[in-house]
Order: sequence, then C-alpha cells, then structure tokens
Amino acid sequence: MKLIDGKNIAIQIKEEIAAEIRSLQDIQDINVRRPHLAAILVGNNPASETYVANKEKACAEVGMSSSVYKMSEDVSEKELLENIDFINHDEEIDGLIVQLPLPEHISVNKIIASINPKKDVDGFHPVNVGRMVLGQPAYISATPLGISLLLERSGIPTAGKHCVIVGRSNIVGTPMSILLSRNAKNANCTVTLCHSKTKNLSEICRTADILIAAIGKCEMITAQYVKKGVTVIDVGMHRVEDNTKKSGFRLKGDVLFEEVSPLCEYITPVPGGVGPMTIIGLIINTLKAYKQEIYK
Ligand code: GUN
Repeated sequence: MKLIDGKNIAIQIKEEIAAEIRSLQDIQDINVRRPHLAAILVGNNPASETYVANKEKACAEVGMSSSVYKMSEDVSEKELLENIDFINHDEEIDGLIVQLPLPEHISVNKIIASINPKKDVDGFHPVNVGRMVLGQPAYISATPLGISLLLERSGIPTAGKHCVIVGRSNIVGTPMSILLSRNAKNANCTVTLCHSKTKNLSEICRTADILIAAIGKCEMITAQYVKKGVTVIDVGMHRVEDNTKKSGFRLKGDVLFEEVSPLCEYITPVPGGVGPMTIIGLIINTLKAYKQEIYK
C-alpha cells in the first residue's frame, strides 16, 4: 500500500506557482499588482472559517493577494448579491468565491449565477460547468481538478480504467465523473457514478480500479467495498470529537482507513490527501483568471 501524499504534492505545486508569479512580476513592471482572490464568508460555520483561512494562507504562500468579506448569518440575499456585484466590477480582483454552505434563506443557485463567470474560480457557475462538459476552456471545480492532479503527480494511470465515484454532488461527484470520462490527458476512464439510490453499491464498488468516495458519510466505505489493488481517493472530511487534540477534534474521511488501506495499491489519507489539493485547484484557477487564460 502506498499513501498518496497530497500535502507534499500541494507544497511542490505551490512552489512552482510561486516561481511563476515571481517571474510574471519580473517581466512586468514591479509595481504591477499580484493575482487577487476574494472570498465571501457568510456566518460563523467553524469548518467554513477554517477552509477560508487556509485559502488565504495558500494565497500568501504563493505571492497572491486575498481578501475576505465577512457577512453575518442573517444577511439578506439582496445584500449578498450587491456585494458580489461590487466585486464583479472591481478590476483589482481576479477571482471570487462564495464559501458554501450558505444559510437556508439564501438561494445558492441565485448566488452562484450572479458571479461573473470570468471570476468564478470555483467553477460552479452554469457557464463554466457547461463549458467543462463540452470540453471548452473553463474553470474546473477545485476538488475534481485537485484529484486529477493528484492522480497525475502520483503516476497513477487512468486510461481504460474503471472509475467508480460514490456521490453525485455538484461540487465533486458530478464534475469528477465528466472530467474522468473525457478523451483527454489524465482521463479516458470508464466511469460509474453511484448515489443514494444505487442498488448493489458494494458490488459495483468492488469492480473499481479507482474508487472515489465523495458521499459525505463518515467511514462508510469499508473493506467489503474494495477489491485488492484498488486506488482509493477519499474526499470526505468529518470532524470527530477528540479531547486529546488541542482543537478538540480530529478529521476522518468517507473511508474506514484502517480496514481499507491494506487492500489498496494507493490511498489518500485524511487529512493530508485531497484537502490540500482542493486549495491548489483554486490557486491554479485564480492564476488563470489573472492571466485571462480561460476567457480571452
Ligand atoms: N464548500 C465546500 N467546498 C467548497 C468549495 O470548493 N468552494 C466553496 N466556495 N465552498 C465550498
């Protein structure tokens, strides 16, 4: 069994991006502004606060600017839309994300649709999703992009492999299924997308060469879901109370690691697998937005 070291791969890619940003600054006037990511954070969800803080930290590490717009839990949809409109028109900002989940009184679809697709570095806007499906230049959702890079950098072949994805969310499962089935580098898989109504789930999972667990259920994938020699990518991130930790919790995935890992050729740990690569996906998209590579 080999661990896929997402943390280390993320460090390497951050160094590469930092070098590219430095060279961009060198060839341009030194006073030219740096790539800039803006994040809107609504409410006080502790996990969301941590994710946004980690995104800010990664921006600083690669030499990007970032700003966080904090809005209260009871902010109106109208006020949030106005803030997005303001950032859409700010020429100093390249990328904009609205951290999810949002409070229930706000329509996620309406909020995502209001982001300028050219700044939608999360790749959630219908225009970017549509372009991605058609194989046109698009911002690709950060987690699927991070997973593709993780497979590439770990030297795991994908062409002709059967990839089973469990979970059909708009953020991970659905875009991942499309990306991996495309006729492209690091893709060309035969993809099965499983969900809550799938029959014989464990049986289907056992046919996977690559199993991507993105269900959102702590340690649901046990040994009975995997065949020997599989590659397992665990997208789950669950906080489990642990009083021996300073934070009071530790992280677990959608995969029961102790039971599944001995059967795997490759597996991502939680933490230190997919999580750091999601941030890399976002940083890559923000650099593309700065260079105006997607929408010319
Ligand atoms: N919430 C969980 N994952 C994500 C993500 O990738 N982007 C945003 N904006 N919110 C999230």
